[in-house]
Amino acid sequence: MTLSGVAPTIRAEGLQKRFGAVQALSGVDLAAAPGTVLGLLGPNGAGKTTAVRILTTLLVPDGGHAEIAGYDVVRQPQAVRERIGLAGQQASVDEYLTGRDNLVMVARLYHLPMKAAHRRADELLERFELAEAGGRLVKNYSGGMRRRLDLATSLVVAPPVLLLDEPTTGLDPRSRMGMWSVIRELVQDGTTLLLTTQYLEEADQLADHIAVIDQGRVVAAGSPDDLKRSVGGERIDVQVRDAGQIALAARAMERAVGHAPEVDREVRRLNATVAGGAAALTAVVREFDADQVVVEDLALRRPTLDEVFMKLTGHGTAAAEAPEAPRRQRGGRR
Ligand SMILES: Nc1ncnc2c1ncn2[C@@H]1O[C@H](COP(=O)(O)OP(=O)(O)OP(=O)(O)O)[C@@H](O)[C@H]1O
Ligand SMILES: [Mg+2]
Repeated sequence: MTLSGVAPTIRAEGLQKRFGAVQALSGVDLAAAPGTVLGLLGPNGAGKTTAVRILTTLLVPDGGHAEIAGYDVVRQPQAVRERIGLAGQQASVDEYLTGRDNLVMVARLYHLPMKAAHRRADELLERFELAEAGGRLVKNYSGGMRRRLDLATSLVVAPPVLLLDEPTTGLDPRSRMGMWSVIRELVQDGTTLLLTTQYLEEADQLADHIAVIDQGRVVAAGSPDDLKRSVGGERIDVQVRDAGQIALAARAMERAVGHAPEVDREVRRLNATVAGGAAALTAVVREFDADQVVVEDLALRRPTLDEVFMKLTGHGTAAAEAPEAPRRQRGGRR
């Protein structure tokens, strides 16, 4: 994959990895331009963590090639490690230290002087809303608190390349928003970020470029808007105020968009797929105006990433399908 003009900071080509009978990756290509966010989006078992582990030198691929900042992850692992931060899917903090001591320890491992290490630890505790819990042993932290501490430890020295494996899984909505704002700040400061997620909304919010991965393959790639467009199907949704105007509104919409809308009489709604986006919307408004159709609600809707995923893979995300289902048990096509 090439990105116009600039060498990607994160690059993978044809990555393959097999675990016994399971082909976890079957030729994955990825690329993230400097200072951008690449979202790796896929359901349980898609191969996201496997890709992250290869990119962070924790696992050697069976085939293919990957580079971070121009360094080969297999032949130059040390140079790669010096340039990356990782927050893995499993928290890697020390249970028998306090939150603050975990952070100080990591800072000291990166050779920060003692005073600076403490200052950094306090900054991060504050930022991740752990200031009050900072003096308590991690073994008494809740799951969400551990997650936040783990992310904080990956940010002790802001690395040029950061890989976050499901950074917001298990966080409550408020902490998730907090995490998003931290991620945005890091990227503004020039960090290149790869983030895996099962949350379509999250990829949509944060990523400049998304690779949708399913059963070890990239099934689609592009900007969030590209992906939505590729699935097509912008729609105009209308709700008329008066049920007596439904037929009139349907004729007006047909004139505007060139085909008859679907009608749901019960809720007085009409919708039609359109190609022209805003222009089509304007045309509908003009026809409604001419016929004095009174609308309660009128909107141009683009497909959600959930719909995109369903279309691309033939199944939804595990999260969307069965929020309570145990991980790694997907029905279907394996
Ligand atoms: N060390 C391993 N040994 C055997 N199989 C493995 C190993 N690591 C991963 N797998 C298998 O490889 C496939 C991809 O797993 P991976 O952890 O990369 O998925 P994932 O996309 O991160 O999923 P999740 O969203 O559940 O974290 C799965 O079928 C998994 O069971
Ligand atoms: Mg994973």
